[in-house]
Amino acid sequence: MSKPSILVARAIFPEVLNQLQQVFDVDHNQDDVVMSPAELHARMKGKVGALTTGSERIDGPLLHACPGLKIVANMAVGYNNFDVDAMTKAGVLATNTPDVLTETTADFGFALLMATARRVTESEHFLRDGKWTKWSYDMFAGAEVHGSTVGIIGMGRIGQGIARRAAHGFGMQVLYHNRSRLSPELELECKSRYVDKTTLLREADHVVLVVPYSAASHHTIGANELAQMKPTATLINIARGGIVDDAALAKALKDRRIAAAGLDVFEGEPQVHPELLTVPNVVLTPHIASATVKTRMAMAQLAADNLMDYLLRGQTRTPINPEVCA
Ligand code: DGY
Repeated sequence: MSKPSILVARAIFPEVLNQLQQVFDVDHNQDDVVMSPAELHARMKGKVGALTTGSERIDGPLLHACPGLKIVANMAVGYNNFDVDAMTKAGVLATNTPDVLTETTADFGFALLMATARRVTESEHFLRDGKWTKWSYDMFAGAEVHGSTVGIIGMGRIGQGIARRAAHGFGMQVLYHNRSRLSPELELECKSRYVDKTTLLREADHVVLVVPYSAASHHTIGANELAQMKPTATLINIARGGIVDDAALAKALKDRRIAAAGLDVFEGEPQVHPELLTVPNVVLTPHIASATVKTRMAMAQLAADNLMDYLLRGQTRTPINPEVCA
């Protein structure tokens, strides 16, 4: 009997690919060439399933061209590359990889906050450039982390992980803003206080963005919001490009409207706003918040398990639109 055909749209761990090859006829991309939408359409045709990452857009025209498609498993917790309504209408199950990356991503959020507040990369460049000739009292003096106030916008699992680290590990005051308020038990556990966005922006020493991308969260932070922040504050974005207006941020950093920023995600990535590359007071990383070997392996395995469970056993593990199976 012939095996069901699937596409693995980007390179993944060979051991996970191997598991998929045992049970599926796999069209893979271990050379990891990012496909254009036209290439993706062509390679997706005739497939019943696909394993994607954030770089593959699954939308109405693609679904129309691939009537046999049953499931697309994203190897990411975020799924702004999916048009979920169109997938649901087309009867295509969408899955993501929640939970397995929560703590690793929260670790990175904290690492970026620390590196930004304490000017780690700026001072390393100074040293590497041979500019370090003497110690001086104010050299790379940054912002305090312990005992300061962090404001978290987006208090899902990752936001809560950052809150726990901040409150319990660093004695920080934690403010948060979210679509819905946490239960009193969770607020207590995270030692977090719910506030409106304006209060958060005005009072936080460090603003951390962990909100999912949607039309509603586009430019959650723009010139207006940056103007409300303390001039000594830092801004950390580990959410998605587009949550911050990068042009407005570059200007605010240049004008020292805020002290510094730490960015793991960018509007139009892998392109980075050119002005962000010229300002010194920003720490830039290439979308690596979930990148530990263990966590990336767990994400790949969960995406593969989603494909195998659904296509071979009719079961779902981490569905985004479970109504498709009803
Ligand atoms: C996620 O899981 O959403 C990360 O940003 C990796 O894409």
